[in-house]
Amino acid sequence: MVVILLGPPGVGKGTQAVRLAEELYAAHVSTGDLLRTARREGTELGKKAQEYMDGGELVPDDVILALVREHLAGIAPETDVLFDGFPRTTVQATGLRTVLTEVGREVDGVVLLEAPDEALVKRLSGRRSCPDCGAVYNVYSNPAGVEDTCDRCGGSLVHRADDAPDTVSRRLEVYREQTAPLVSYYESDPAPLARVRADRSVDEVYGDFRTAVEGVR
Ligand code: AP5
Repeated sequence: MVVILLGPPGVGKGTQAVRLAEELYAAHVSTGDLLRTARREGTELGKKAQEYMDGGELVPDDVILALVREHLAGIAPETDVLFDGFPRTTVQATGLRTVLTEVGREVDGVVLLEAPDEALVKRLSGRRSCPDCGAVYNVYSNPAGVEDTCDRCGGSLVHRADDAPDTVSRRLEVYREQTAPLVSYYESDPAPLARVRADRSVDEVYGDFRTAVEGVR
């Protein structure tokens, strides 16, 4: 099964995908996480991506497609895959189709998480992430037990540079201009697209997300 999780910045894609991937033993493929790992490791790709990410712009399609192709090659063909934050443009969506066809797979379903901008801005202003283990917290809805310290590994939590207010506004604009058109792209695709209201508790969203994914399994 290959499922795409689509939605604006801060809507909860990572939160939901990590949980479901754990439950289903699926591979969680987040291009944002892959890029942040490349940046931490100081690879050429990471250096190339930094400027785009810090400005809230999309990393070029060819870079992203090469990254995904390489990452997919390391995932066993029978493993379910949840894409989070990819594809983000119609060029990436058609590129994904090609990459999947090469390995005898296809997109089985798309889940769109939706929430109003005010909720997204608040969530991103309160997000704190652990750069060591990737755990994600929120000062409003899911604070760490000890302020600024990761409950899981003891690492020091950070506020992502691209969660600064000006960059968040740009990321929302970029989503509307370049990624939102994927909704109609996938609506005319044979694979079903399910919409889930994400301005509810993590557990409520998860219930509907899980049901939508089970529906395509
Ligand atoms: P990426 O890391 O993918 O960022 P994003 O899509 O903007 O999404 P976020 O990670 O900000 O949010 P999320 O929806 O995962 O929410 P989360 O679960 O963390 O991309 C970063 C950058 O990399 C891009 O700007 C671009 O430059 C580049 N990039 C990545 N992929 C690319 C691609 N394919 N093409 C080109 N460029 C690419 O939740 C947010 C917060 O809310 C957390 O604090 C969480 O605890 C909290 N929260 C979650 N759910 C709830 C809830 N139900 N109620 C209350 N709080 C909640």
